[in-house]
Amino acid sequence: MHKITIAIDGYSSTGKSTVAKQLADWLGYVYIDTGAMYRAVTLYAMENGFISKEKFNKVQLIEKLPDIHLEFRKSSPAAKAEMFLNGQNVEDNIRTLEVSEFVSPIATVSEVRKKLVEQQRRMGAEKGVVMDGRDIGTVVMPEAELKIFMNASAEQRAKRRYLELVERGDTVTYNEVLANVQARDRIDTTREDSPLKKATDAIEIDNSEMNLEDQFHIILQLAKDRI
Ligand code: C5P
Repeated sequence: MHKITIAIDGYSSTGKSTVAKQLADWLGYVYIDTGAMYRAVTLYAMENGFISKEKFNKVQLIEKLPDIHLEFRKSSPAAKAEMFLNGQNVEDNIRTLEVSEFVSPIATVSEVRKKLVEQQRRMGAEKGVVMDGRDIGTVVMPEAELKIFMNASAEQRAKRRYLELVERGDTVTYNEVLANVQARDRIDTTREDSPLKKATDAIEIDNSEMNLEDQFHIILQLAKDRI
């Protein structure tokens, strides 16, 4: 069967990764979570003292970029791929609110973006890929046959993210999560390099009032129309 590339972009916590993973499983495609890559670089920067509430030493981070090796590994063919940073499984550690607080500043650094975009393009070189992020349809895979741009109200997104974090056992408040979602929206849409924006040929889906199943079927149909 003819295979395509699917790019799913949008605001933080719009459920991009959930639908992207469902779609990839259904179509037998590879799913690539590019946010996990920015989060892993952020974790590295935090662990090495390059970023904290007091400072952000971009120069040191840029110098160390060649030492950062990112890889997605699966424990079984059906399992979700997990993020490995320099050989260590960091899948859990990259999902904390603390990492979410530093990730958008890290993602403004052009040298970081260049390194990750190169790796993303290599991973997506063959068709049969669903990739989610902020710049997939505009920068990483502008040739993608299907581009989706997801949105929902900030309050709805914060609520979903808050429940996810609480379920993991993290101690956070709804207001902290809402503030983080809004801060990331602001930084992601206003940065100079590859800001979050809808590609001209992307289809926008606002899922504030939509359930996961309906959303999945709408996007699946759009994919089938292009296969
Ligand atoms: O998708 P997720 O929320 O995990 O992404 C975390 C952050 O990584 C985003 O808020 C954004 O700053 C950055 N990001 C990006 N470009 C991508 C994917 C994520 O700048 N393609």
